[in-house]
Amino acid sequence: MGIEVVVEGLTKSFGKQNIWQDVSLTLPAGEVSVMLGPSGTGKTVFLKSIIGLLKPEQGRVLINGVDMVNSSERDIMETRKLFGLMFQDGALFGSMSLFDNIAFPLREHTRKKESEIRRTVMERIDIVGLLGAEGKLPGEISGGMRKRAGLARALVLDPQIILCDEPDSGLDPVRTAYLSQLLIDLNAQIDATMLIVTHNLDIAATVPDNMGMLFCRNLVTFGPREVLLTSDTPVVSQFLAGRREGPIGMSEEKDAATLAAEQQLSDSLGGARTVAAPRTVVPQLEPSPGLPVRQGALRRRERVMAMMGQLPEAARTAILNSYAPAAGGARA
Ligand SMILES: Nc1ncnc2c1ncn2[C@@H]1O[C@H](COP(=O)(O)OP(=O)(O)O)[C@@H](O)[C@H]1O
Ligand SMILES: [Mg+2]
Repeated sequence: MGIEVVVEGLTKSFGKQNIWQDVSLTLPAGEVSVMLGPSGTGKTVFLKSIIGLLKPEQGRVLINGVDMVNSSERDIMETRKLFGLMFQDGALFGSMSLFDNIAFPLREHTRKKESEIRRTVMERIDIVGLLGAEGKLPGEISGGMRKRAGLARALVLDPQIILCDEPDSGLDPVRTAYLSQLLIDLNAQIDATMLIVTHNLDIAATVPDNMGMLFCRNLVTFGPREVLLTSDTPVVSQFLAGRREGPIGMSEEKDAATLAAEQQLSDSLGGARTVAAPRTVVPQLEPSPGLPVRQGALRRRERVMAMMGQLPEAARTAILNSYAPAAGGARA
């Protein structure tokens, strides 16, 4: 099963520009987590810090006892082999077939025989639904297929932790829905710990077990999906509703004057525009028929049930509903 990732008090700046500070969270083993946040809030910087490619000034990222911030470069390199990375743009080599792109990490980092490489690559191509397209060049296929190829390449070294940076970027809503299902199916099949960075609201609503949000140089919150999906914290509810009204402005933060003017307008309208309607939490995606039950989902249920006492009322209600026998979670 996947490996837990513990982030403690992480702070990252570039020169004088602080990106985020004191970020602490735990990605539970084998569960799927989503990190939301407006553009430029440092989501990609966060992923790069987790794998040790960027060095935060403070804090730790613990994986199997190795600190990806402060341990020796040798230990960090070794631990990095546990990761599969899916980049924003797919990052495929344009002149190589999909097969060769996906085989690349195996040829680069292992001494496997070509026959073995072929078997592994074709298996991953099957998992992501690209059988038949392996001979194509990246330029000959759709954006959605390129994403899948990028995911297949992230899978060839049998990662136990998978990081996806905006896997939906450039995809239409239907392709995004397929991708969401693929991520859940993948989790059911390999039980890896997954962190998906996105600002896609459909993915946020249907894919993760846990969710957090970066805003204004802070981790607003991180916890069971229901906590964010029912939150009345203004930045969270504004973001999840995709509204203009609220603390998030065109360039991330609105200034105090704009906020005050908005509040005044809202008061004059009787508050109707800023009072969020009670949000319904849509059921989380289940693995496709025929696939195993997600072990991460089973563990998550135990974990969340044990922490119910610390959760807000609305989140508790949503969680209990999702685990009620009649609901979609019945299979677990
Ligand atoms: N290597 C770097 N050097 C200096 N600044 C950087 C570097 N990488 C990212 N940044 C800055 O960090 C901020 C957050 O970037 P990023 O993590 O890409 O945001 P997001 O992925 O949330 O859109 C941006 O202001 C960006 O300019
Ligand atoms: Mg980014």
